[in-house]
Amino acid sequence: MDCFQEWPEPIVRVQALSESGAGVVPDRYVKPLSERPRDAAPGKELSIPIVDLDGLAGGAAGCRAAIQAVSDACREWGFFQVVNHGVSAELIRKTREAWRGFFHLPMAEKQAYANSPKTYEGYGSRLGVEKGAILDWGDYFFLHFRPGSIKNLNKWPSQPDSCREITEEYGREVAKLCGVLMRVMSISLGLDVEFLQTAFGGEEEVGTCLRVNYYPKCPQPDLTLGLSAHSDPGGLTVLLADDRVKGLQVLKGDAWVTVHPVPNAFIVNVGDQIQVLSNAVFKSVEHRVLVNAEQERLSLAFFYNPKSDLPLGPAKELVTLERPQLYQPMTFSEYRLYIRKNGPKGKAQVESLKAK
Ligand code: OGA
Ligand code: NI
Repeated sequence: MDCFQEWPEPIVRVQALSESGAGVVPDRYVKPLSERPRDAAPGKELSIPIVDLDGLAGGAAGCRAAIQAVSDACREWGFFQVVNHGVSAELIRKTREAWRGFFHLPMAEKQAYANSPKTYEGYGSRLGVEKGAILDWGDYFFLHFRPGSIKNLNKWPSQPDSCREITEEYGREVAKLCGVLMRVMSISLGLDVEFLQTAFGGEEEVGTCLRVNYYPKCPQPDLTLGLSAHSDPGGLTVLLADDRVKGLQVLKGDAWVTVHPVPNAFIVNVGDQIQVLSNAVFKSVEHRVLVNAEQERLSLAFFYNPKSDLPLGPAKELVTLERPQLYQPMTFSEYRLYIRKNGPKGKAQVESLKAK
């Protein structure tokens, strides 16, 4: 039997639960006490760094400052916001509008795209196939851009009218930004400018995909999470957070820090593959999403991943006597199976790669 053919239980759309007006969260979504959102510890008014990429277009001093800022952010936080990133505010607005439109279509139209754990492409409401798992308070839509061989426009929403076209343009533009970030991060690691891109298999071979997350209003937001604590399994994530509603939190030490998105900025985070390649010089940091009773929330997570069949291990330049090789190499297609099977589980997976 292949546990990845179908979901282990009938799928319930969180949006439908939310819109049913029930005053309580069903048990399936109630997190154990230790995982429930609590207020951040008082005095922890921290925020993730903001990096202005404008400097890259100017002279040497501007470039150096931007590279230093990315370097510090990837070492200390694994997360930062980027401004002056080159993706137009108009495209961002249209992309959000198209996807809000999708999630507000009648349920029957969305159901035509219902996904399965085989590829996860389409309209989904859970990560992981563990029977009886406690679920997250969110629905999503997942689609592939690259490699071209697995991109399937028929699995993208045909409604709203412009959704496919706008999403394609959005994917192209954000992938370009990822190319820039990969170069800046390579230099920040003290490596050749093309190091990370080459390790990923080259610009033409990387995998890119999008998960649009939709977090409906929740009657008891203190009992559940929109997305449980996890690190992103891939290379690099570029998140477009909701422009009206907060919800993303990032782990800093043992405190959860709320992200306050700058208008039209992207939130960038290091994924597990870059932690592995950098031998943990850069960190993929745990993050989670809180929900609320007043407003729904929409976010777009663009994932930039290595070619799926390349074994990735720490760069030899970053393995020294003082800093031995921390991880065993693994291909991304193999690595990704863990979250696809177990759902979001903190940093358990990257820890399991530690060389014995
Ligand atoms: C993700 C993620 C955060 C958010 O999709 O991996 O962490 O704010 N999303 O939706
Ligand atoms: Ni994430």
